[in-house]
Order: sequence, then structure tokens, then C-alpha cells
Amino acid sequence: MREITLRELADVVGGAVHDGADDIVVKAPAFVDSRKAQAGGLFVALPGERVDGHDYVAAAISGGAAAVLAQRPVGAPAVVVEDGVDALGRLSAHLVARGGSMTVLGITGSAGKTTTKDLSAHLLSTRGATVATPGNFNNEIGLPLTVSLATEDTRFLVLEMGARAIGHIKYLTEIAPPSIGVVTNIGTAHLGEFGGYEATTQGKGELVEALPPTGLAVLNADDERVRSMRARTRADVVLFGLSQEADIRASVVTVDERGHAHFTLHTPEGSAPVSLQLIGEHQVANALAAAAVARHVGLDTEELAAGLGTATPASGGRLEITERPDGIVIVNDAYNANPHSTRAALRALIAMANGRRTIVVLGAMLGLGDEAEPEHRAMGALTAELGVDLVITVGGLKGSEEAGWIADGAEAAGMTVHRTANNVDARILLDSLLAPGDIVLFKASQPAGLQPLAEQLAGQAETVH
Ligand SMILES: Nc1ncnc2c1ncn2[C@@H]1O[C@H](COP(=O)(O)OP(=O)(O)OP(=O)(O)O)[C@@H](O)[C@H]1O
Ligand SMILES: [Mg+2]
Repeated sequence: MREITLRELADVVGGAVHDGADDIVVKAPAFVDSRKAQAGGLFVALPGERVDGHDYVAAAISGGAAAVLAQRPVGAPAVVVEDGVDALGRLSAHLVARGGSMTVLGITGSAGKTTTKDLSAHLLSTRGATVATPGNFNNEIGLPLTVSLATEDTRFLVLEMGARAIGHIKYLTEIAPPSIGVVTNIGTAHLGEFGGYEATTQGKGELVEALPPTGLAVLNADDERVRSMRARTRADVVLFGLSQEADIRASVVTVDERGHAHFTLHTPEGSAPVSLQLIGEHQVANALAAAAVARHVGLDTEELAAGLGTATPASGGRLEITERPDGIVIVNDAYNANPHSTRAALRALIAMANGRRTIVVLGAMLGLGDEAEPEHRAMGALTAELGVDLVITVGGLKGSEEAGWIADGAEAAGMTVHRTANNVDARILLDSLLAPGDIVLFKASQPAGLQPLAEQLAGQAETVH
């Protein structure tokens, strides 16, 4: 965090200083979790659904916080505002404006934001000090906290921007105006929340509308909805993808038995072979998007290819592969799911199978609105089309219907399906069924809760819940 006094902070966010001197200086990042207190940092006390951050002020101060941003006086040096989230946004805008020459990159889209963010940060960090969204902190709270991680030395600020409704991305671009914007794709993620493809396209496109004429919009040439966004920006446009129209293009894409994609990278300046260490063919698109960004700041084609080849998975839980001592391979992609990413994961599984028996453990994909039933049935059918050997569905026997739809779709396409009610039943079934050499993919939306099951099977967790 760039240093800021309580007086300045109060002026920036429209609040009042309480219980402390105006000249107290905040020098470390803002944080909302008192257990992650930073010496000299700013504790942001937000009222949550279950816990109220205001109850944790003492812990944050004893952890070293210099001051608190709060919605009521807390008996410690604080700037008191009406709305903490709004104040965080104002602070973010101020910090970015003070950042001067810092280049801000915004990344949105339905799938691949976090991966493209990590790849972009990896490439940009070869050119200058880079701060990127940790993990998945992509909303109106996580984004300003990320901005507060930037210091005087930061040259690139890489921000994942998530959205659940029209206007969300616009807000994020107001509190951290980007000069480069990437839209990965428009798929079914968050479709239900937005209310259809048109609204999703409208919402994600707010990113390129916010770019200045001197900026750069990085758009997916292979996605009609994303490509159409070029009409909505004043910035220069660079297209990435497999199609011939793409400026940053991949050809000869192959996936080896470890699931790593290989391809030839083409830029307007030349070509170079790339070998990714990330799993799945879908990573090619993410790599191309990151390459388009890094080329813009000066990396040449060779540097792009070399940099992409040294990137390793940075944010966990995405197609995490564990080979157990008994030879069973666990592929944990249960961090989250939508039809787009589930298709990508199933294809990655098949690419990695290399003669192994393939088993998929699937649960609900949430947030699909009216598309939920056809999308889940289609996913079941796809397992047959791709030649998966066995399908296990988890959940839905008594409660929600999603897992049942997957099972119905798979059975209708001729698959053998085991339906289980919950993780405990799935665990018992898997223990009796798995044999050395099997490869097992776990995939569902986070609330469906397959992550602990996958972790336990991989030997990383003790009990299944
Ligand atoms: N370009 C892509 N096309 C299709 N699927 C993808 C792509 N990139 C990633 N995925 C899939 O989506 C999953 C999530 O990837 P990632 O975390 O990068 O996306 P995200 O957009 O950040 O998601 P979230 O909305 O949860 O933040 C991955 O596990 C992978 O299966
Ligand atoms: Mg993400």
C-alpha cells in the first residue's frame, strides 16, 4: 500500500477520523480477515452475514493494524464511514490514480479468468514488479484489497474481475480503471444470475467500454459474443484464438499423455513452439490471451513462448493431479464448474487417459437458470460421446435434481452410471470400485461439495464431509 494518513484516508472515502490522530500512517495493505493482520495495515471491518468484522477490531490491532476502516466508532484509531464497501472502492480509485505510470490490466469472462490472470502476471513479472489478484479475489471487496497490495514499485497491476449482474464490471472498472482489458469467453458460467447470454455479453463487455482510446482490448477471436465486443471499445483491439483472423494465434495444438498442451504460437512478428505445463487443451486460449497482453508491453515472440512454458499452476484446485502410490490417478477439478469448464475437464481427462480406465465423479453445476436441465443432460451425454468408461453422480437423490439429470443423460446415451446420494456414499462406492491404473475426475460447482471428497481420495484430507 502506498502510505496514507488517516486524515487523507478520511478525505478520500468521505469519512471521519475517530479515536486517533490525523497523522497516523497506514503503510501496509488493507485486509478484512483479522487473522491475516498486517503490521501497519488497514483493517476493514465489514458487517458479514454470519460475523461482524467490527467484533474483531481488537484482534486486528493486536496483530499490528495501524488503523481501522469501520462503519461505527470502534475504540481504536479509525476512519468511520457509512458504507465500508463503498469506502473501499473509493480508496481503490485513489490508490490507482496515485499509481501514475502503473499499468492496470482487467480480466473478465466466463471461464479462465484466474488462469489467464496467473499466466499474464507470470509473463509481465519478467518486465517489472507485478501485483496480481491472489487466488480468486475478483469482486467488489477482493479487488480493492488487491489494489492495496500495490506499492510505489509496482509496474503492473493484474486484476481478475468477476460479475454476477449487469453493472458489476462497470463498477470494478471505475474503482480500478484498466488500460488493458481481456475477455476470455462468454459461456454458461453465471448465466442464470445474469439471465441469459445476451445479458452476460452485455455485462462482461463493460470492461472494454471502460478502456481509454490509448488502451488495448484483448478479445477471443473464436467466440462470436466476445469478438462482437470490438464495436463497444475505443481502444485498439487484438484478437487471440485458433481462427485465421486472430492476431495472436495457435496452430498444431496437441495434448500429451500428461495432459499438457503443445502448440505453435504465431504473432505478427513470428512463430515459436510452446509447451505448457498447465493441464488441458483449454489452456491454449488462456495462454494466447496472456501472450497478447505481454506482447503489448514489449515481450517478443521467443520470450512469450519461453515464459508460457515455465508457468506452473498458481491458484490451486484446478485440474490438480495426484498419482497415488497404488497407481490410481486423482484429477481434482471440483473447485468449481459450469458446462464450459466441465467439457474442458472431460476432454482433458480423455487426453490424459492413455489407456487407463476413465471414471468421472460429477455433481451439480449451479447458476444455470432455465438452461440447468438441458445442460446437465447434455453433460451426461457427452461422457458417452467422449468414451468415458464410468460415471458416478453425487447428490440429488432426495434434494436437488441436477445430478439426476446428468445420470439420466448419460444412461440415455448408453453409459453405465452409479448414482450416490452424498460424499460418504460416493466414497464407499469408490473404495470398492477403484483399481490400480484408474484415472478419476471430480467436477462440480463448489457448493456441491466434491472438493473434500476429491482431496480425501487424493490423500490430502482426513475425513469426508
Ligand atoms: N479458456 C477456457 N475455456 C474453457 N474452460 C476453461 C478455460 N479456462 C479454464 N477453464 C476451466 O474453468 C475452470 C476454472 O478456471 P479459472 O479458475 O481460471 O476460471 P475463472 O473464470 O477464474 O472462474 P471463476 O468464475 O470461478 O472465478 C478450470 O478448472 C477449467 O476447467
Ligand atoms: Mg476465478
